[in-house]
Amino acid sequence: MFYQPGITAHGLPHDPFKSCVVPRPIGWISTRSVQGVDNLAPYSQFTNVSFDPAMVMFSSNQTTDGRRKDTVTNAEQTGVFIWNMATWGLREQVNVSAEELPPWEDEFIRTGLLKSPGVIVAASRVAASPVQFECEYMQTVRLPGNGPMGTVDVVFGRVVGVHIADSALTEGGKVDVLKLRPLARMGYFEYTSVESSFEMVIPGSSKLLAGLEGSALKNSGSVADGAMLP
Ligand SMILES: Cc1cc2nc3c(=O)[nH]c(=O)nc-3n(C[C@H](O)[C@H](O)[C@H](O)COP(=O)(O)O)c2cc1C
Repeated sequence: MFYQPGITAHGLPHDPFKSCVVPRPIGWISTRSVQGVDNLAPYSQFTNVSFDPAMVMFSSNQTTDGRRKDTVTNAEQTGVFIWNMATWGLREQVNVSAEELPPWEDEFIRTGLLKSPGVIVAASRVAASPVQFECEYMQTVRLPGNGPMGTVDVVFGRVVGVHIADSALTEGGKVDVLKLRPLARMGYFEYTSVESSFEMVIPGSSKLLAGLEGSALKNSGSVADGAMLP
């Protein structure tokens, strides 16, 4: 089959587009409004954009009535946000945190999730989440789209603090992804979680491997104290 989005019909009972870009890690983003209300919402249009320095992005559509979402407003107005890893064990809370609530309603209270304070940024972390990135807001790229929801605010942030629970690490010091089972979005109303992994190494260039591995130390030497070369 072939179709041109927005021009020709796909002819299927459900729009296949989102189901073609899978799985998408979930940016479970916590922010605080300038009024001091904590906010939490999942954004599956999320990824890291670089590793040295560490940067992430999430992409927000508009609300069902065409307004900017609270997460974007808060990040832009306060200059910070936090990414929390969404896991299989937290899936119900992830789902509840997606409700379209007014900005004065605290979604931590709504979901029953406990808060941990940010160490560097003024926002709350999901205490039960095994990994969190504290981020400084960098910029928003606004792309026009079809109303009411299609317009998109792509928000970029620099990661200035990384929290990893000790229990989330293997004895060898790697993030134990298979134990954490990070949650990911697929298309329609479908999700998956990471339940298997395998390794592959690019043949040839060892320099390229620093990027594949995501090692800031091997790339530029710009790391914190205590970093060890294997
Ligand atoms: C798993 C999941 C992923 C989502 N991903 C996105 C996304 O990438 N972009 C978006 O605009 N909304 C996404 N949503 C919907 C938002 O979470 C929802 O609009 C939420 O109410 C926004 O809250 P806020 O206004 O507090 O930021 C997602 C919802 C779920 C359940």
